[in-house]
Amino acid sequence: MLSVSTLWGMRILLSQVGAVSFALAWSTISILGAESQPPYLDASQPIETRVDDLLSRLTLEEKISIIHADSKFTTIAIPRLNIPRRWLDDGPHGVREDIGPDTWNPAGRTDDFSTAMPSGICLAATWNPDLGYSEGEAIGQEARARGKDIMLGPGVNILRTPLCGRNFEYLGEDPFLTAQMCVGYIRGEQSQGVASCVKHFALNNEEFDRMNINVEVDERALREIYLPAFKAAVQDAGVWTLMGAYNQFRGQHCCHNDYLLNQILKDEWGYKGLVMSDWAGTHDTRQAALNGLDLEMGTDKKYDDFYLAQPYLDLLKKGELPLAGLDEKIRRNLRVMLATGVFDARRKTGSLNTAAHQEVARQVAEEGIVLLKNENQSLPLDPTKLKTIAVIGENATRLHAHGGDSSGIKAFYEVNPLDGIVKRAGGKVNVIYSEGYRKDGGADLAERAIAAAKSADAVIYIGGLNHDRGFDCEGADRADMKLPYGQDELIQKIVAANPKTIVVLEGTMVEMDAWLDKVPALLQAWYPGMEGGNALAKVLFGDVNPSGKLPATFPKKLSDSPAHALGNYPGTNGTVTYAEGLLVGYRWFDTKNIEPQFPFGFGLSYTTFRYSDLKLIPAESTNEVVTVQFEIENTGKVAGAEVAQLYVHQKNPALMRPEKELKGFKKVFLKPGEKQTVSIPLKKAAFEYYDAGKKSWVADDDSFEILIGSSSRDLRLRDSFHPATKKQARAKVFNLFPPYYAWNNKFTREEIGWNPGTEDAPQWTASFNFSTNGLYGYPASIRGWHYGWNPAEDNLFPKKLSETTSIPCSFSYNCGGDDLHGDFAYDLFLRHDDKKAAPQLEVMVWAGNNSTPIGELIATNITVADGVAFDLWAGTNAPVGYYVYSFMPHQKTARLPTEGSLNVDMMDFFRLLEGRPYFSKEMYLDVVEAGFEIVRGKGWVTCGWFSCEAE
Ligand code: BGC
Repeated sequence: MLSVSTLWGMRILLSQVGAVSFALAWSTISILGAESQPPYLDASQPIETRVDDLLSRLTLEEKISIIHADSKFTTIAIPRLNIPRRWLDDGPHGVREDIGPDTWNPAGRTDDFSTAMPSGICLAATWNPDLGYSEGEAIGQEARARGKDIMLGPGVNILRTPLCGRNFEYLGEDPFLTAQMCVGYIRGEQSQGVASCVKHFALNNEEFDRMNINVEVDERALREIYLPAFKAAVQDAGVWTLMGAYNQFRGQHCCHNDYLLNQILKDEWGYKGLVMSDWAGTHDTRQAALNGLDLEMGTDKKYDDFYLAQPYLDLLKKGELPLAGLDEKIRRNLRVMLATGVFDARRKTGSLNTAAHQEVARQVAEEGIVLLKNENQSLPLDPTKLKTIAVIGENATRLHAHGGDSSGIKAFYEVNPLDGIVKRAGGKVNVIYSEGYRKDGGADLAERAIAAAKSADAVIYIGGLNHDRGFDCEGADRADMKLPYGQDELIQKIVAANPKTIVVLEGTMVEMDAWLDKVPALLQAWYPGMEGGNALAKVLFGDVNPSGKLPATFPKKLSDSPAHALGNYPGTNGTVTYAEGLLVGYRWFDTKNIEPQFPFGFGLSYTTFRYSDLKLIPAESTNEVVTVQFEIENTGKVAGAEVAQLYVHQKNPALMRPEKELKGFKKVFLKPGEKQTVSIPLKKAAFEYYDAGKKSWVADDDSFEILIGSSSRDLRLRDSFHPATKKQARAKVFNLFPPYYAWNNKFTREEIGWNPGTEDAPQWTASFNFSTNGLYGYPASIRGWHYGWNPAEDNLFPKKLSETTSIPCSFSYNCGGDDLHGDFAYDLFLRHDDKKAAPQLEVMVWAGNNSTPIGELIATNITVADGVAFDLWAGTNAPVGYYVYSFMPHQKTARLPTEGSLNVDMMDFFRLLEGRPYFSKEMYLDVVEAGFEIVRGKGWVTCGWFSCEAE
């Protein structure tokens, strides 16, 4: 008889096979009556057209079925429209084993072993964003091979307290480092046609009472510490899905938190993907309906009773909730389906457990292991000089990959440290093993280990934490920062028995005061994944020169760290107040002058590096403020990598600022004697802080110290810089791109050169390098506008305007505070059917008060959203045939609110054109009757021209 889990396994297989054959069928077979291929299946159509089309075919009940789960990790298929079942899976460290369908028990499959990457904190310790990309790419390939559409990771919550049970999954304490590492990961994963799901948004920094704890944090710390990684995931990586956090923020659960999801994520940042709940993180139908949740997962109810299932349908039918809100959720879900190519017959099929993926796992471990102490060059070990090595400690043989809860992996294999050491030490060295400690272990374990230590030439002690609940595991925090199972005493006895004791700790940070000064060498190995034993052995024996750096401060004792020093953990009466504000991690230790055990950014090497020749080169023609340049030389005898870190210290800030903050870093690989010039460009953001009063980012007119170091407390070079002394227009450049930028556009902000103006000509312009970014150039400029166009990819939502009733367009803007204001434009490009033709017509909406309108005023006081009124101007602009129609603010001297968003329906605009004296009937026909199409979106680059007043 087949067991339930086997049946489940078959069901999975069948539906995956089914999905593939459906997809193949779509290109050839008519599935919808006479229509040969509906637009939503036509990959040459722009995504938004396909979304609109599919949306229009769904019944109300089908729509409801799309926005909640139909098993632990799937959503329902709609065979009528060939919408396949969507498969989600954890998580950040690889593709988790299949469970369910309706329980958390394993599905019992034999084909769900995967590559187990090191834990997130180990990836962060590499300080190598390229490795982030490789890891994401490998996991994306495995996800495809296992038929997954959405992968639940990376986790980017900030390490606020050493006790958080999920610190091992996350990327450390610093927003800049976390952002840099997650962007690469997401880009790599999504390059495989799999959606990443950045999580848990937001302020999910402890596991204590995790489903309910309410977090109170000031606006500035929210913006500067807790949100940057999410913002980078959205705006720099273009992440397709995001998971709400379990906890509450300002009294509302994060999975339906209006401020976080609607106002910040969707309105301000322009996020176009879907927001899903954490599993059982939804609590209320009305809030879920209205506050930004798009997909409900894991609720502890029957699927039909989920908050966004029948209860939502009932309220919609009664007219108590708007249908438009449902459609918005569907759009976001459909967009992710289309972005991941679920209807695409040529979708990537992936690969599982390849040597290349295992190589990535090993490389991350090799670069993530941190050498914290190495007295008298105790490491690396030389096997030719050792007869017997005693390996001691439970973690030498314990496997971790499967542990930790949702981030655990059923590893294809896992090399434990003992096996790695035995293999590397070679046949001539006698490796003996003694467990030394264990949960509930007796004194005899320690005695045997001490005897083993005495009999050996060297000891490798491998201890630390594990994934048992209460240590590094989801669902609970640690009770303290101590090593468990009497390891503090054990290490002291071992080192007394054999002074040549190398300590290797797995897990996250622990107190080390009891023994640290007695041991000659210490390695932090985190949870190094399936290749961890090999990677560790290579580091111990010097085949790999350690280059990891701590992504979080290791305090000497728990009470030194900010949340605990101020008594703000775990919270009282259900609320935890982040009273330390900005002073998280090293920001606290440095500002308060508290000596940590090991500082943020710290990590030793088997070689030495010399830093020299710091130069601060004010930027001339890009969006950078200054380029920081210096030399690094490997002055030792072995090859190695150094992570050069750049911190900024502000001298006389108007508001309190942390002592210093990481604003750049570079990992440099050098042969012995080799020297390299390192360049780190700094943008304006590197000098800014968030002014909650002004609701914007500001930089004071002040001097800043640029500090270059090997860690946050080992600073080797410094110089001062006063950004305001540079002859440059001071302008804020935020949200220059219409919201779809993050969605479709291939550009990163870095790839677009922003040229700040000067005091004489205070204008920002953008330049693109068309030959390197794959776009064809269509260099035209209207008062500073530039755009590129790629005919090969031009499948943008072509629509006959005459068949169109509504073209909603919205954009958000930031005018940069009270003293600056600029122009923002939003445009539609129009052209005839010939796909190779350049656009013949451009329609712009302008917001700002600095432009000179072209042509004539044709209508006044058109009120769009947010109470902003516009005049409508229109006119022609050279070259001939190129028309610009503009909305202008009603009062030319009026200021827009400094930050906000506008929504207009472009069709209203066209309707206004008709019959206006300035416009000939022909011109109107050009637009509406002559079959112009709107072309924009993928393949197009538009960017805002910005003018501002020099200060
Ligand atoms: C975790 C998420 C995870 C989800 C699904 C939740 O308990 O918080 O990170 O993705 O379960 O396993």
